[in-house]
Amino acid sequence: THQWRGIIEEYRDRLPVSDSTPVVTLREGGTPLVPAQVLSERTGCEVHLKVEGANPTGSFKDRGMTMAISKAKEEGAKAVICASTGNTSASAAAYAVRAGMVSAVLVPQGKIALGKMGQALVHGAKILQVDGNFDDCLTLARELSDNYPVALVNSVNPVRIEGQKTAAFEIVDMLGDAPDIHVLPVGNAGNITAYWKGYREYAADGVAGRTPRMWGFQASGSAPIVRGEVVKDPSTIATAIRIGNPASWSHALAARDESGGLIDEVTDREILRAYRLLAAQEGVFVEPASAASVAGLLKAAEQGKVDPGQRIVCTVTGNGLKDPDWAVAGAPQPVTVPVDAATAAERLGLV
Ligand code: F0G
Repeated sequence: THQWRGIIEEYRDRLPVSDSTPVVTLREGGTPLVPAQVLSERTGCEVHLKVEGANPTGSFKDRGMTMAISKAKEEGAKAVICASTGNTSASAAAYAVRAGMVSAVLVPQGKIALGKMGQALVHGAKILQVDGNFDDCLTLARELSDNYPVALVNSVNPVRIEGQKTAAFEIVDMLGDAPDIHVLPVGNAGNITAYWKGYREYAADGVAGRTPRMWGFQASGSAPIVRGEVVKDPSTIATAIRIGNPASWSHALAARDESGGLIDEVTDREILRAYRLLAAQEGVFVEPASAASVAGLLKAAEQGKVDPGQRIVCTVTGNGLKDPDWAVAGAPQPVTVPVDAATAAERLGLV
């Protein structure tokens, strides 16, 4: 009879909420930390996956959105706006429904996965496809929230980071301490900022005995932090992280440097290889951007950068169902059979 109450109730004392904050929740958080057998064997380490696709709208964004929408409601906002590569808009749209608010979302035209577009549509968001990339959408969203009565719920809103830091709390609560290394995909760099904040807070208060090294991975065609310069026309099949000018750039560098970590890139080919490995060998179906963390871990292991025996957590940020095109692409078409057991058995290789 007792279920997980959502991150605000579970971590109330560590979040900027008060008794008068209306809690807008879909019971996000409390996601599985799954031991990854094949990745552990490959790296000689103890690897776990933090499966954020198990959140209510299918991505980690719900942790930040419960905070952003609750605070917006507390402040009397009637409408919220975000720029998004898809997941933020899906989450904003759902939480706005819960709050009785209007949501507006700005997405880069033709560059968001169909599942995410479907979520924004079915939750009744007002959607504008912008003739530009995510970075252009964010510029526009900031301008609109500065000049019109609409609250910005992108991760440049600090309460989003507050909500997302709870994933680090959950990991420490589950493992008894922070891992040696935490691996994440990096797009706008809000999430790596949030995890680092969460780990630091737990260590400062003695809940954890240490902090992990933070490892972030960008897609090669969209790797401004790795290159040290803005990427004007970012490209990658991992549309969720197709971002050329991350808003939390400096915070990502701080997370890397303060933790003794690294930020590197992985190619689309490496991302797809990790995507297939996760599904076919670990039983965990994630979207391509999410596989960037695992692709990065495998790349680092091949480069000899991963000492065996360490405890490593990879966050897989979004559910594979959001963008199933890559699961279907290149896979053999299922064969059609008549309603006949002998034929079916033969086609299945059972005889
Ligand atoms: N993985 C997924 C599935 C994402 O949707 C995102 C970001 C990231 C990783 C990267 O996280 O931006 O905090 O570094 N998606 C944003 C969006 C940009 O609009 O949904 P980040």
